[in-house]
Amino acid sequence: MSTAEEWSNKSAIDFYYQNRHEVSDLYPSEKIFLPRVLFPGAKVLDVGCASGGFFNIMRTFEPQIDYTGIDLSDKAVELAVERYPEANFIVTKGFGLPFDDNAFDIVHCTSVFNNEPNYQGMLEEMYRVTNRFVLVDIRLLKGIGKQLESVYNIQFNGKEVEATVPYVVNDADEVANFILQLKPGPKALHGAGYFHQVAKEAETPDREVCMAVLLIQKGVHDGGQAKLHLEDLPIAFSISESQPG
Ligand SMILES: C[S@@+](CC[C@H](N)C(=O)[O-])C[C@H]1O[C@@H](n2cnc3c(N)ncnc32)[C@H](O)[C@@H]1O
Repeated sequence: MSTAEEWSNKSAIDFYYQNRHEVSDLYPSEKIFLPRVLFPGAKVLDVGCASGGFFNIMRTFEPQIDYTGIDLSDKAVELAVERYPEANFIVTKGFGLPFDDNAFDIVHCTSVFNNEPNYQGMLEEMYRVTNRFVLVDIRLLKGIGKQLESVYNIQFNGKEVEATVPYVVNDADEVANFILQLKPGPKALHGAGYFHQVAKEAETPDREVCMAVLLIQKGVHDGGQAKLHLEDLPIAFSISESQPG
């Protein structure tokens, strides 16, 4: 996994502080589901919140949210607390979340799984603590069979490499099937996204990957099978037959 040390470098902290706090800073894929899932009074958990910019983005869409951001970097969280004293921020890792089951309406996590080989461990926890939605982004390729892990150079100042973290692309079918076996079985899985060039900081053999955003709706679907809405992704999924109810 990534560590606090790697994400507490000045260039990364400055980049997220300056470039990821306004709606206009969002990537196109990030604008698809977020404004639709927020609602007045929603309890939101933002995993990997860095210096808290998504609090400002989310409250622009919906001013009445009860936001908690977590990050493993204490430096990033210090800045978040200073910048947005009206929100809650906690230093903690995305594995073993210090919250009760079903504590949040929306669990959001963006630009984290692309550097996290154990996305499954984080996703299970995020699903446990939500009562309604989990919204994540993830890099996908079809038919790779296993996760591809290469290197991402943290170098936001354009000069020297300050740290390296994994760069992770996942197999599309593995991800969809992993999500569908979460307990209780998801009610629905929505996906959207597009193929796009990977960041120049990523040392990877594939120059284009599918930048996918997945919205998982928790709760058992009446018929026992999750409703799938994956047709907006440029990938055809092979879903295993034995989805639990
Ligand atoms: C690439 S930044 C993304 C920041 C923000 N979500 C955004 O999209 O602008 C990744 C952040 O996630 C944090 N992070 C990575 N793995 C984490 C984990 N397992 N638990 C909590 N935070 C994590 C890092 O410390 C870093 O601040």
